Amino acid sequence: MLERERDNRLLNAQAVTVAIAHEIRQPLTAIVTNADTALRWLGRTPPDHDEAREALTCIKEDGYRASDVFEGIRALFGRSGVERYPIDLNRIVLSVTDSLKEELDRHGVVTHYELTTELSPVIGHGIQLREVVFNLVNNAVEAMVSTTSESRVLRLRTAVCGRNEIAVSVQDSGPGIDPRQLEKAFNAFVSTKAHGTGLGLAICRMIVEGHGGRLTASSDGKSGALFQFVLPIGSTDRAAGSP
Ligand SMILES: Nc1ncnc2c1ncn2[C@@H]1O[C@H](COP(=O)(O)OP(=O)(O)O)[C@@H](O)[C@H]1O
Ligand SMILES: [Mg+2]
Repeated sequence: MLERERDNRLLNAQAVTVAIAHEIRQPLTAIVTNADTALRWLGRTPPDHDEAREALTCIKEDGYRASDVFEGIRALFGRSGVERYPIDLNRIVLSVTDSLKEELDRHGVVTHYELTTELSPVIGHGIQLREVVFNLVNNAVEAMVSTTSESRVLRLRTAVCGRNEIAVSVQDSGPGIDPRQLEKAFNAFVSTKAHGTGLGLAICRMIVEGHGGRLTASSDGKSGALFQFVLPIGSTDRAAGSP
């Protein structure tokens, strides 16, 4: 159990590193560029203090932007040692679609639920697992909105598999993914979207694996995609020790 906990921490650290590297690069580049500009203005004879001040003001703003990034990342991964408790995955699924209700309605997405009533809680990080479901649903909606098709169907399922696992699946009726590209979609920075980060699925997989589970995808490359993650049902002993 200690080994697993250590692995979980490593996976979390990895996910955090990837996210920070990606998000922080832009303000850092801006800070260096603006510092160069300020130095150039100050190096003139006579120095142009107004221009230098403007560049320094930009550096200050870039600094704030960078610290906002850390706030966002803390919200996603923070306090991971504390937040291990029994999670009701049905509730997570419903809370995600609830928060996206407006978006789903606006694009005419019809949502079908098949949520098992025999669900046992899994032990995990609520914020992280919610982030996984949110990312998968968000990708599904973005995929369906990218086509002109009138029929947009989102299927959300939870099911007990075997004696000790729970499966959550998110299926859409979008364009799907070329089966040869399926594994690549999980790599960091792989995105087919103009403003995509390509981090969603990479982070989802790290979170799921950090919970001792698996995240997989299937698609025939034309009639939608199905993403499914399987998590081990938590032992009651561990649940009892949690807040
Ligand atoms: N439900 C889906 N249907 C079709 N393609 C998908 C779906 N989910 C993910 N993808 C593909 O996988 C890529 C990576 O997804 P993700 O890691 O979430 O990054 P992003 O959403 O920022 O592009 C997407 O750009 C898209 O090409
Ligand atoms: Mg995404």
